[in-house]
Amino acid sequence: MREVRQISLPVKDLPDRWYNIIPDLPEPLPAAEGDMTAMGKAIIKECLNQEFSAQNWVEIPDELHGAYQQIGRPRPLFRAVNLERRLDTSAELYYKAEGLFSPTGSHKINTAIAQAYYAKQQGLGRLVTETGAGQWGTALSCAARIMGLKATVYWVRAVYKWKEARRDFMKLYGADVFASPSENTETGRKLVRQDSEHPGSLAIAISEGLEDALSDDRAAYVLGSVLNHVLLHQTIIGLECRKQLELVDRYPDVVVSCLGGGSNFGGIALPFLGDAVKQGRKTRFVAAQSQAAPNLQGEYRYDNADYSGITPRLKMYTLGHQKEMPPIFGDGIRYHGCSPILSLLRNRGYIDTVAYPTDEKYVFDCAKLFLSEEGFLPAPESAYSIAAAIDEANACSEAGESRTILFNVSGHGFMDMEGYRQVLQI
Ligand SMILES: Cc1ncc(COP(=O)(O)O)c(C=O)c1O
Repeated sequence: MREVRQISLPVKDLPDRWYNIIPDLPEPLPAAEGDMTAMGKAIIKECLNQEFSAQNWVEIPDELHGAYQQIGRPRPLFRAVNLERRLDTSAELYYKAEGLFSPTGSHKINTAIAQAYYAKQQGLGRLVTETGAGQWGTALSCAARIMGLKATVYWVRAVYKWKEARRDFMKLYGADVFASPSENTETGRKLVRQDSEHPGSLAIAISEGLEDALSDDRAAYVLGSVLNHVLLHQTIIGLECRKQLELVDRYPDVVVSCLGGGSNFGGIALPFLGDAVKQGRKTRFVAAQSQAAPNLQGEYRYDNADYSGITPRLKMYTLGHQKEMPPIFGDGIRYHGCSPILSLLRNRGYIDTVAYPTDEKYVFDCAKLFLSEEGFLPAPESAYSIAAAIDEANACSEAGESRTILFNVSGHGFMDMEGYRQVLQI
């Protein structure tokens, strides 16, 4: 029989609802603390409803289902046969290719298009956001354009400076893009006055975006990670994976992904985490992080999601919302806090974590190995998933066991070559 390397789903099997784990959590999700006014005003109404939904399944509206097809869903699952052979591992390695067929290069479009759709339904005119790696900013710019809205993006300066092509890509979609901290907002001006080349952070960019959105009645602030509704939209990834693995009669023993605020990790893992909680399945979940921002090793406590404290406080694993963290090429995972849902599950012992050194040599070497064996160039953030998947495969061989490892390659790295050039000295 021919070996199976690519597992594709027909469009008719594209999920028509998202999975909401909140009612299945082992304990109630702690409510947010503090002033909800800003978030209540700035966030799209339907997203706010979804944020606190007690329904297990949320229907994907027909128009959005069409838009999901437009942005390349369902996406393929691959078995990394060459990589398995190269590692000489007893594990089977399956990866979801979220960078493939995604018009903007990553999983971020899955929630960007949903949020833009609901904003259009609400009659809004503009979406404002932050971005770290630039993948989210591009996804939002694309989604806003598709839904006929304007987009404004505050982009962490350290990354804005080296990803010129991605900046132009966002502008091509018609977005206004600013290096953050910027002169546009109170938060930005204070920091720029101290240091005109301030490298910025996701938390600062979120404060700037919120300030901007709150000053315009026709604008909404949209987040690309952390919040419950963002993870909800991303469960489309794991729901597809479940169907794809069923086609080859597999169920994951290990699920691995990189984690910044938690959207791609939650996306691939939550449907399986639901099984672990409800049915006691013994799947291992590993979040790959950087030592620059090992938020899952921080404290489990209430903290703000942004730098200036405009957001309410969320119960999450955090390093502190004003923590200075050194810039890395995988800047999309340089964030101080982890999503409340994943934080609760980590606190209850369902999620393990590994943090790789800030010189990024090891993770970029793993990405190069993946590229040489499988042919695809991962985004720097996705390189962390690959490193952790390789580590898990090696551990599996050492234990002499055969395990099914599922990992997410959250984006492609076509616009991240400078990172590869510098770290690997090409
Ligand atoms: C390709 C890619 N993967 C992963 C991440 C990390 O974010 P999250 O933890 O929300 O998936 C980012 C963030 O920008 C990203 O661009």
